[in-house]
Amino acid sequence: LVSVETHEPLAHWSPALGAALTSSVIRSHHRLAELSEFADDRLPALLDRHPREKLQAYAPGASGVSDWPAVDLGAADGAALLDAVSLGTLWLNVIDVDAFDEQARALQARLFDEIARVVPDLLPGTMGSTLLISSPGASVPFHLDPEPNVLWQLQGRKRIYMYPAANDAFVTRETREDLFAGYAREFADYESDFDEAALIEEVAAGDLIAWPQNGPHRIVNLEGMNVTLSTIFQTRRSRRRRRVYCANRFLNRSLHLPARSTAEHGLASTMKVGAFGAARRLGLARPGTPPAISAELRLDASGQIEPLTTPIQAEFV
Ligand SMILES: [Fe+2]
Repeated sequence: LVSVETHEPLAHWSPALGAALTSSVIRSHHRLAELSEFADDRLPALLDRHPREKLQAYAPGASGVSDWPAVDLGAADGAALLDAVSLGTLWLNVIDVDAFDEQARALQARLFDEIARVVPDLLPGTMGSTLLISSPGASVPFHLDPEPNVLWQLQGRKRIYMYPAANDAFVTRETREDLFAGYAREFADYESDFDEAALIEEVAAGDLIAWPQNGPHRIVNLEGMNVTLSTIFQTRRSRRRRRVYCANRFLNRSLHLPARSTAEHGLASTMKVGAFGAARRLGLARPGTPPAISAELRLDASGQIEPLTTPIQAEFV
């Protein structure tokens, strides 16, 4: 294993990849899997130090693509969590790993610098990292994320189904507005015939992949325990898109004015975003709080995932 101090680039980026990032599906290569930051021997202590309210745990149903029940982790320590991931069907999202792990933070800073070289409007201070640690047979249901992200595969193999972005036939405009404004969580209704329009790609250690901002996607692990870094960020363009959707939601639902255009340029768009910004500053448009998550399952002391007799509020938010 080599140290992050080496000065070779961590990923292959080019002006063409930079220009396509956030608007197209792109693939490239990285060497994060050669580094020690997220190597197996660091993971138990990293999980032990990570606050539980930032550690999402789900037991994706074997049956299907839209089942994503939350799991209460009880007193399990990092080593026990990793055992449960390798033996069972568990999906852990180590949210904001950069905020709680110095090595992750340093690595993220380097990834940001490399991307900033080919994405001139990348906004400093907007990057965040989530480490995904998931079982060989686990999956993530159909969903979309508000901000652009890049997925860096470190270990294991997964298949990613990517669906058309900004297309009401897959996710309605209202759902996208709710997501951007913070009123909804990321999951959306899925129908199996969506797959006829999906782009399907597989990634293994050393691959990175990104899809258009807000593009709905779902993930199926194919082989091995999967360790994946997900980095989110904002560009000037992605921030503008968020503001347009938030402005539309405010105009439609609070002021009952028709605002359907998702145009990100032009006078009407600029005036709408400006008015919304003013409403926010005056406290007339508040960011939403997504619904709380309740856990119906728990990880017991023997590492088995069992149903809870009464659902409880999840420890994570
Ligand atoms: Fe996602």
